[in-house]
Amino acid sequence: GFPDRVTIWEVGPRDGLQNEKEIVPVEVKLEFLDRLADAGLTTLEATSFVHPKWVPQLADAEQLLEGLKQRDGVRYPVLVPNERGLDRAFAAGVKHIAIFASATETFAQRNLNSTLDTQFGMFEPVVSRATEGDIEVRGYLSMCFGDPWEGPVPASQVVAAGKRLLDMGCSQLSLGDTIGVATAGQVEAVLGGFTAAGVPMSALAVHFHDTYGQALANTLVALRCGVSTVDSSAGGLGGCPYAESATGNLATEDLVWTLDGLGIEHGADLDKLVETSAWMAGKLGRPSASRVVNALAR
Ligand code: HMG
Ligand code: MG
Repeated sequence: GFPDRVTIWEVGPRDGLQNEKEIVPVEVKLEFLDRLADAGLTTLEATSFVHPKWVPQLADAEQLLEGLKQRDGVRYPVLVPNERGLDRAFAAGVKHIAIFASATETFAQRNLNSTLDTQFGMFEPVVSRATEGDIEVRGYLSMCFGDPWEGPVPASQVVAAGKRLLDMGCSQLSLGDTIGVATAGQVEAVLGGFTAAGVPMSALAVHFHDTYGQALANTLVALRCGVSTVDSSAGGLGGCPYAESATGNLATEDLVWTLDGLGIEHGADLDKLVETSAWMAGKLGRPSASRVVNALAR
């Protein structure tokens, strides 16, 4: 069966915007976050404390945190790659962070200027210092299904890298289909690999990009397998600047439409989400990628 309740991990303000060429003003980002909270979402991935030259769109992370009116009951995790990023996050008063590893050699190089093995050495002090400071750490693992340079990624390689993040102290592991190539059978195989390695589905989240239109189908398979945290971005914004052919994430509205149809609780207000994404589409100057937004927006 399906879970009774799903936690939506909204990545629009971070993954959604990081790939936008035109710098979105910090006021617009803050209104976006406010509107998403108004829509009932309780996990809003706000920004990244990465090198500003690597992701210029999120170079305003300090300013954003300063202007953010944090609400009770809402988490605002931020991405942190290394100790320098953690220092910045600490200084900004952040309570939840996410580290982001690669399941493949090439993407570790391109996204982190590291290797598959040495990336863990970069994350270890981040995780230990954060958890000592009572900061919750999520671990992302990218390229869990396919890599634009290496092709299909063996499930065993994904499970081995994911286990290292969990063993390091990450409270949750989000499995990324960074370039949106995964298909349903692969999702079942990777999740089965984690089960065989003793990892409970409650420790996992799924993060599907929608390049090939498979994100929702893949999410349904993950829900059937017992996963109950799903990453999505309002309006289907998103993409990684360091991954060729990466497009937007699963749209939050498309996810909510499916969850509503199945009677699965999620706590979000679809009308407010649609209004928000239509507003954001206006700010970005192009229509939303979400089918549900386009069907419902007035
Ligand atoms: P590097 O150049 O190897 O860094 O980059 P370094 O450690 O050699 O340091 C070089 C300089 O950068 C130093 O300054 C550092 O202080 C500075 P200098 O001493 O020369 O003046 N520096 C920093 N400054 C500010 N903030 C920092 C920071 N770190 C170093 N955090 C690094 C290595 C990891 C920093 C770089 O590769 C980077 O920032 N990468 C981030 C790339 C990124 O954000 N990608 C997108 C997010 S991942 C994603 O989207 C996938 C996901 O959605 C899941 C999925 O879809 O699969 C999560
Ligand atoms: Mg992503």
